[in-house]
Amino acid sequence: MSEVRVVHAEVLEGSLRVPGDKSTSHRALMISALAPGESTIVGLSPGLDVVATSRIMEQLGALRRDEHDVAFVTGPLDGLHASNEALDCGNSGTTMRLLTGIASAVPGTHRLVGDASLSARPMDRVATPLALMGASIKGQGPRSVAPLLIEGSRTLHGVAYEVPMASAQVKSAILFAALAASGPTTVVERVRTRPTTETMLSRAGIGVVSVEDTEGRSVTLHPGRPKATAWTIPGDPSQAAFFAVLGAIHPRASIEIVDVDSAPERVGFLGVLQRMGATMSVRSTGDTMTVVVRSSELLAAEVHAKEIPSVDEVPVLVVAAAAASGVSAFRDMGELRLKESNRFDGSLSLAAKLGCHVWSEGDDLFIEGLGDASRFADFAMDATLDHRMVMASAVAGCAGAGASIMSADTVSSSYPDFFNDLRTLE
Ligand code: S3P
Repeated sequence: MSEVRVVHAEVLEGSLRVPGDKSTSHRALMISALAPGESTIVGLSPGLDVVATSRIMEQLGALRRDEHDVAFVTGPLDGLHASNEALDCGNSGTTMRLLTGIASAVPGTHRLVGDASLSARPMDRVATPLALMGASIKGQGPRSVAPLLIEGSRTLHGVAYEVPMASAQVKSAILFAALAASGPTTVVERVRTRPTTETMLSRAGIGVVSVEDTEGRSVTLHPGRPKATAWTIPGDPSQAAFFAVLGAIHPRASIEIVDVDSAPERVGFLGVLQRMGATMSVRSTGDTMTVVVRSSELLAAEVHAKEIPSVDEVPVLVVAAAAASGVSAFRDMGELRLKESNRFDGSLSLAAKLGCHVWSEGDDLFIEGLGDASRFADFAMDATLDHRMVMASAVAGCAGAGASIMSADTVSSSYPDFFNDLRTLE
């Protein structure tokens, strides 16, 4: 499936559940591997990123067996141990960054490798704070890219660290290392990122105190070993975003997405769509929500990175902006350049291929919308190794005049069934 042709769909209608949240899935596997005894996980993401995390936890000594949609993961009583083989994180930044925190506290030598995309992504953002805790992490070049060599030890100490960029992965790497440190650790974030790690560790019995201020948060963690826990994974909001935008920009659509994680740090894209004038309803179902989005006439919006921390939903919101009337501005989007591909350039180029006038100033990007997805041009896009660029391109092609997507199989990093799920709506 390296090249996929997406054609315009006449009508899109139906209800779907997107895969289990990727962030929660990684952490459920990691926390279960760290906990002595058997944990259960229902609804793991089937994406290859999560498969990579699962394999690595097994390499480090955890046992996994599956029955239907339940994974049973047993962490060794005497803790994880180093593997003789390289730990292959594939395309997954979350796997590699969180693993730096875990492996730093597991005695022995660990070699972390990844694919070409991951091997170009900066790891200094985790290596720097972990070194302050006493960890030894060696990467390549000034940004410490993979392969990484980690000498794990039992002598980490707690720190107080303010994360210089909005990154749940950096916060989480520190919190995982902090589990095994000699004293408490405090991580301060100026912009609140997804609280998945601290919430899940707290559920697994770890002492965590989280204090929020106007925009940020400080998380203090007391060292300890998580206990075996029963996890249920909600639907992934970042995947729901593709169908929400598709429902809004397609001329004859009504799409329902059920059981989506509703953490405020994850659903900023819905606020943006609402401001753009999307016809939608959001119904809370406890910790998750059901979202229904229908064909809408969208207006341009001003979007700031801090309302979508981690900026995962920006490429597809750029597609929404391309269908809107007026000029949309996406501000402070520098982090987009450091994802699975340079999504800053990729998003601009996608909107330009659709026929929009686009430009950038520093870290801001601007899209002059065409006012209607029916004005989108048929286009070709090479998504290289970036699953979200595949899905954003598919949304544009399906609502517009079609698209040819090269390297489309990279969608399997997070959503192997994406194209099948898309077809169920046609
Ligand atoms: C993630 C954090 C985000 C996001 C990624 C998943 C996580 O990255 O892009 O898809 O699970 O912690 P950053 O922490 O780099 O923003």
